[in-house]
Amino acid sequence: MSILIKNGRIITAADDYMADIFIEHDKIKMIGANLDVKADKVIDAAHKLVMPGGIDPHVHLDMPFMGTSSSDNYETGTGAALFGGTTMVIDFILQTQGKSLHAALNEWKGRSDGNAVGDYSFHLAVTDFNEGTQAEIKDMIEVEGITSFKTFMAYKGALMIDDRQMVGLMNEVKKQGGMVTTHATNGDMIDYLVAKHTAENKTSPLYHYLSQPEITEAEATGRFADMAQYTGVPAYVVHMTCEGALNHIRDAAKRNQKVFAETCIQYLVLDASLYDKGFESAKWVMSPPLREKKDQEALWTGINQGSVQVVATDHCPFMWNQKKMGENDFSKIPNGHPAIEHRMELLFSEGVKMGRISLNKFVELTSTNAAKIFGMYPQKGTLAVGSDADIIIFDPKEEHTISAKTHHMNCDYSCYEGWSLTGKIKTVILRGKVAVDQNKLQVEKGYGKFIRRAKVNGII
Ligand code: URP
Ligand code: ZN
Ligand code: ZN
Repeated sequence: MSILIKNGRIITAADDYMADIFIEHDKIKMIGANLDVKADKVIDAAHKLVMPGGIDPHVHLDMPFMGTSSSDNYETGTGAALFGGTTMVIDFILQTQGKSLHAALNEWKGRSDGNAVGDYSFHLAVTDFNEGTQAEIKDMIEVEGITSFKTFMAYKGALMIDDRQMVGLMNEVKKQGGMVTTHATNGDMIDYLVAKHTAENKTSPLYHYLSQPEITEAEATGRFADMAQYTGVPAYVVHMTCEGALNHIRDAAKRNQKVFAETCIQYLVLDASLYDKGFESAKWVMSPPLREKKDQEALWTGINQGSVQVVATDHCPFMWNQKKMGENDFSKIPNGHPAIEHRMELLFSEGVKMGRISLNKFVELTSTNAAKIFGMYPQKGTLAVGSDADIIIFDPKEEHTISAKTHHMNCDYSCYEGWSLTGKIKTVILRGKVAVDQNKLQVEKGYGKFIRRAKVNGII
């Protein structure tokens, strides 16, 4: 199978030019002006942008969490991602405390194998670091191609590790050539505030937000960055939301430390005023919570300064009935929101169209930096000869409206209902196959492939 994409405006993290792209099998074979080659299929991309397929390195598919499971599985989640131009995701395996990393990997393979439509990889969340776990890290990196290890500094009793375990894990991961990532919030402070609000009979979703003030995130981000400096491990902070945390990342950069920061689309475009809607606010109950307008401004600034390298989603959807588990107790509302489908169109509309970021920065944030940071570049994350043919064809002018009635995520509401966006994904190619076109999914369950990742050293 071969495809020729003609007349498109090619945008990568570095370039912006007019050219054709010739794809043979699963790879990009040629890029050049007016390519004179025969192809099985010709796509006219005139007046469209041609960009690398998106990589969302923070999603939770079919994840057991807070007494239930996230409502998108590998099929619906990676399918919805494709509709939104994201051709690859990195999901999180969660180790069960008291069990091995290999047991967790097998459990996740059971959910993902043969079910994904789009490509995927795993981060491995180490929730119980001990001698046994330590001995498994090398295997995960060298045999399984899983090179990033997630930690939780909150969710005590289920996922959280203490600083002793954190330093031990960092030392081992550094030795074996991997990266440590973290959910940076101070779990003990949050637990104190949750208990206090509950004792005062303050049970609405607003108190989820008030139980996780900025300081809980800023403090943990600084502590994590300091431990990463001490151990020398390449590090990455997931779903960063606020100015206080960003300032710790900036301090780490000043000492030439390899600490990357990811924010998520919701923290750039939504704010804490959404917690004033009574129980409806449960739709936006996520951790960390939405922040203030000043934090949004700080994050856009951090992006343009290069202190924030990735915009992900932390896609972790729950049906409304699942959210209702916390109707009388905010601490029982499953944390997370649906976004995997809208990350790229939201970032284009709110970022590029509103003049906040350049087109090249858009590609960097949605694809290239994730590929570089997590050991997949240049197989993924760019348009170059020899790279996987993961390509989106994007109409920068088309206007459309987000709605739960038309989205493809398995979630019965949208956190962006009625939002009007400018810019729409038209065609998505994944490893040389048209995956989405004419608003229809063209590949089947099982087409999505597990992508092995290389060792990383924190230099991109
Ligand atoms: O609210 C969130 N973020 N849910 C998913 C789990 C996590 O902390 O990333
Ligand atoms: Zn988290
Ligand atoms: Zn998450």
